[in-house]
Amino acid sequence: MTATRIDGKAFAAKLRERVGEHALEFAKAAGRKPGLAVVLVGDDPASQVYVGSKGKATVAANMESFEHRLPDDTPEADLLALVEQLNEDERVDGILVQLPLPGHLDEQSIIASISPDKDVDGFHVINAGRLSVGQSGFVPCTPLGCMMLLTDRLGDLSGLEAVVLGRSNIVGKPMAQLLLDANATVTIAHSRTREVESVVKRADIVVAAVGRPEMIRKEWLKEGATVIDVGINRLPPEPGKEKGRLVGDVAFGEASEVAGAITPVPGGVGPMTIAVLLRNTLVAAHRNAGLDVPEGL
Ligand code: GUN
Repeated sequence: MTATRIDGKAFAAKLRERVGEHALEFAKAAGRKPGLAVVLVGDDPASQVYVGSKGKATVAANMESFEHRLPDDTPEADLLALVEQLNEDERVDGILVQLPLPGHLDEQSIIASISPDKDVDGFHVINAGRLSVGQSGFVPCTPLGCMMLLTDRLGDLSGLEAVVLGRSNIVGKPMAQLLLDANATVTIAHSRTREVESVVKRADIVVAAVGRPEMIRKEWLKEGATVIDVGINRLPPEPGKEKGRLVGDVAFGEASEVAGAITPVPGGVGPMTIAVLLRNTLVAAHRNAGLDVPEGL
């Protein structure tokens, strides 16, 4: 059997299109476009690429993009002052401070300074708390995107065994929370988990977010499992090549022989993150303008 390939790229494109249409409706009702501010501190090349693509995707979805690029040695007080200014700016519905930040800046204090109603990343403790008690807030983009792919594929997740590998605040913990809210039986496995292979073997749903190239082998998987691979790892370059291949946390080729469905890397979960960011920004815009949030997002 060969697993169905879950096409996150196509799913994300459709979501971006729906968001773009709703953004036009919003502009008619509110007299302004939804706005997303992205803040980048320093010149990390990967972050520059991400921030550039976020800006382009924002504009393509009929929203306003506000980009703020600050030097690597920006004092914390200056960054806090910028966030405060964006909190007050009525054109700005969502604020994203690109992580990781340079070492002298305290990520937790910066995230805490973002208004929870503009925290479209869902990283603020208020939004983490809302998620954990079942109140509506903002959910981190990557796990919400994974959840969309899972429910699209499986429908009702009630009673299914889900194993999340990884326990980060950005992916693992909110992912487990979302699966629990959908009535799955959830296990979080991590670097100290004993006999991780046999834990994963129970799972109808595997979400891998550990950042270890091709760690999950076909022997770990239950026949027919749905596998969501959040990992994006670059292998060392092969001789004569400048760049190594991008691979996930799952050994895709062999896992496809056992899984029922699996996301590829690239083209699986990755494109979902920006699409969900735009979706969260659209939701923020409606809430901030006192308008009903459209259904089916
Ligand atoms: N760096 C890598 N991914 C993300 C993300 O989703 N949000 C932010 N703020 N920074 C990131």
